[in-house]
Amino acid sequence: MDDHHPDSTPLPFSYAPLPAGSAASFPTERRRTNTRLLSLAAVSFSLLALAAFLSSDRDPRNARQPDSSSASSPVSFRPVSRGPSDGVSEKASGAFPTLLSGTTSGDSAAAPPPYPWTNDMLQWQRTGFHFQPPRNWMNDPNGPLWYKGLYHLFYQYNPDSAVWGNITWGHAVSRDLVHWAHLPLAMVPDHWYDLRGVWTGSATILPTGQIVMLYTGSTNESVQVQNLAVPADPSDPLLKTWVKSDSNPVLAPPPGIGPKDFRDPTTAWYDPSDGTWKFAVGSKDGSHAGIVIVYRTPDFVRYELVPGLLHRVPGTGMWECVDFFPVAVAEGPEAAEGMEASAAAGPGVRHVLKASMDDDRHDYYAIGTYDAGTNTWQPEDERMDVGIGLRYDWGMFYASKTFYDPARRRRVLWGWIGEADSEYADVLKGWASLQAVPRTVLFDTKTRSNLLQWPVEEVEKLRMSNKNFSGITIDAGSVFPLNITRATQLDIEAEFEIEEEALAMMVKADVGYNCSTGGGAAGRGMLGPFGLLVLANERLSERTAVYFYIARGIDGNLRTHFCHDELRSSRANDIIKRVVGSTVPVLDGERLSVRILVDHSIVESFAQGGRTCITSRVYPTEAIYGATKVFLFNNATSASVTARSLTIWEMDSTFNHPYST
Ligand SMILES: *[C@@H]1O[C@H](CO)[C@@H](O)[C@H](O)[C@H]1NC(C)=O
Ligand SMILES: *[C@@H]1O[C@H](CO)[C@@H](O)[C@H](O)[C@H]1NC(C)=O
Ligand SMILES: *[C@@H]1O[C@H](CO)[C@@H](O)[C@H](O)[C@H]1NC(C)=O
Ligand SMILES: *[C@@H]1O[C@H](CO)[C@@H](O)[C@H](O)[C@H]1NC(C)=O
Ligand SMILES: *[C@@H]1O[C@H](CO)[C@@H](O)[C@H](O)[C@H]1NC(C)=O
Ligand SMILES: *[C@@H]1O[C@H](CO)[C@@H](O)[C@H](O)[C@H]1NC(C)=O
Repeated sequence: MDDHHPDSTPLPFSYAPLPAGSAASFPTERRRTNTRLLSLAAVSFSLLALAAFLSSDRDPRNARQPDSSSASSPVSFRPVSRGPSDGVSEKASGAFPTLLSGTTSGDSAAAPPPYPWTNDMLQWQRTGFHFQPPRNWMNDPNGPLWYKGLYHLFYQYNPDSAVWGNITWGHAVSRDLVHWAHLPLAMVPDHWYDLRGVWTGSATILPTGQIVMLYTGSTNESVQVQNLAVPADPSDPLLKTWVKSDSNPVLAPPPGIGPKDFRDPTTAWYDPSDGTWKFAVGSKDGSHAGIVIVYRTPDFVRYELVPGLLHRVPGTGMWECVDFFPVAVAEGPEAAEGMEASAAAGPGVRHVLKASMDDDRHDYYAIGTYDAGTNTWQPEDERMDVGIGLRYDWGMFYASKTFYDPARRRRVLWGWIGEADSEYADVLKGWASLQAVPRTVLFDTKTRSNLLQWPVEEVEKLRMSNKNFSGITIDAGSVFPLNITRATQLDIEAEFEIEEEALAMMVKADVGYNCSTGGGAAGRGMLGPFGLLVLANERLSERTAVYFYIARGIDGNLRTHFCHDELRSSRANDIIKRVVGSTVPVLDGERLSVRILVDHSIVESFAQGGRTCITSRVYPTEAIYGATKVFLFNNATSASVTARSLTIWEMDSTFNHPYST
């Protein structure tokens, strides 16, 4: 039962075990499960949940104190860069305490002090239901998988501080993707081939149930290589101990690929035509085109570069964290389920290629057709190719990775959400970065041009009391307060309807509107902006606007834009604040709909069922604790808007703890 595999007919598969003496000794008998251990794990899980429930520490505000007591001690400020000199993308937020980051001279004596953050403000920023390590720095999700009833998340982690560096693999397990138990580090830099970092990798689960983990190591000489690791004890559902293969590194940069341009192997997929497992690695070529190369292996011992490139897009630079997976595109019940990485290509199947652009630090995807025989992938629409078209998220969301969840037959997306505050503030608060709420990913059979991303359904278990504000009409230029007692952790679902007459009247206004240049919530047009103000204080001196804006496109058609305005999210100045967003497809007869997850310093929004998503990190100074409010707003000049439905749930915290037996 615990070795349950989605497909009872195993893939054609031949596997030669690693050579004897290799640390990676796979089990020979794999249908047997240590059920006793598993049920012990189940018992301790429920005890853990009970303990968490009974604990008086129900308020996330009672979390540990930030390290520092004073934010105004004399410190010297210089813009920092972390990552690029080591061979990965920029990890520093770029938020400079003084906002005078133009002065890179290092002479900080004249720089004004950073915003005087207090402990109360900093403590409030820690989230209640997002995944975060107990402290310190995290970035990319690694090797997510489901095994023997448990979801595993590994992640890039600095055990030493709240800034990027000394990267290891953190590890946590969950039964529901929402409540997590923290486990000891899974892998640390302890071999020459990963001495400068145990970097990002992906898991492949073979039809036998065996797990192979391919990951990038930065060697003692800062060369990027691919390494193999396997669980030391496959009968341990916690997968606590990992052994690195004696044959590491299994891959060094091939000819023509720079030593620092070869990272982040994907999950492998099985190709029955040549009986090998294939996986992709992102890179760039000599003319700054992003490229994807593919390897094949019959056994994860011998590897061969597949000739040609899976894909190449000029001008897009280094591709990090490539992800490649099939989606069901035919209308019907299959389209509501995820597909396993090795699922056969066919008429009802397309492949999503996603890459993280080192140049602009956004995750782009495109939907296309994969041909294993020619080792090529072609986008459906060349104008919407990877790196120039669709993004998973128009706010902050990077280095993401999906996995197939056989227990619920779905594909789940994890993404790293960085900080928009200064490193100085991160060090004060003792942590930096978190993971987005895991999202299910499906092909949108209605538009047929994008994916749908939606918070995994388990998130709804955290919903507590709700209030129904359906039917409120807000006139042009007005704001309407919503009476929510604790507005720091919310799940909001809203559907809007705009006056028909106003829509009809709108002949040629706002041609070529664009979220980033449209003036945010203060940029008024005939049919927008309207939506919600979250993490707002009573007098609205702080608020984050989540809104729609309808404008006419250059082609004459009405187009709906979906945006976040962070410009007034905080009084503090040492924060990156932007207006972000994009267009969202709205089909005939559809209402405008949005779901918003608010969790202290993060706001994640999903428009039209997840066609367009935006994530913001915001750091209010006044709109915190009991002072946090929510409003409806309509800053359109000539249309009233009705919230046909509007439900707001207060969300419970997950109270994640270290795993204990
Ligand atoms: C890395 O670890 C060393 C040794 O513990 C420590 O001195 C250093 O500050 C750490 N670097 C970062 C960026 O955390
Ligand atoms: C890196 O490790 C390799 C393998 O142990 C060794 O041959 C090489 O000398 C090391 N390089 C440095 C700079 O220490
Ligand atoms: C909220 O109220 C509206 C109208 O009263 C009703 O149609 C809707 O079902 C309610 N929604 C929820 C989630 O209770
Ligand atoms: C807000 O809601 C609470 C109950 O949730 C209620 O007691 C209070 O009267 C409401 N306030 C207003 C102004 O409607
Ligand atoms: C919006 O404007 C910005 C800045 O001019 C530009 O970089 C971006 O491409 C535009 N976005 C769209 C969707 O047109
Ligand atoms: C609406 O627009 C006006 C004028 O630009 C601006 O002053 C006001 O702050 C906006 N309202 C909101 C809620 O952003």
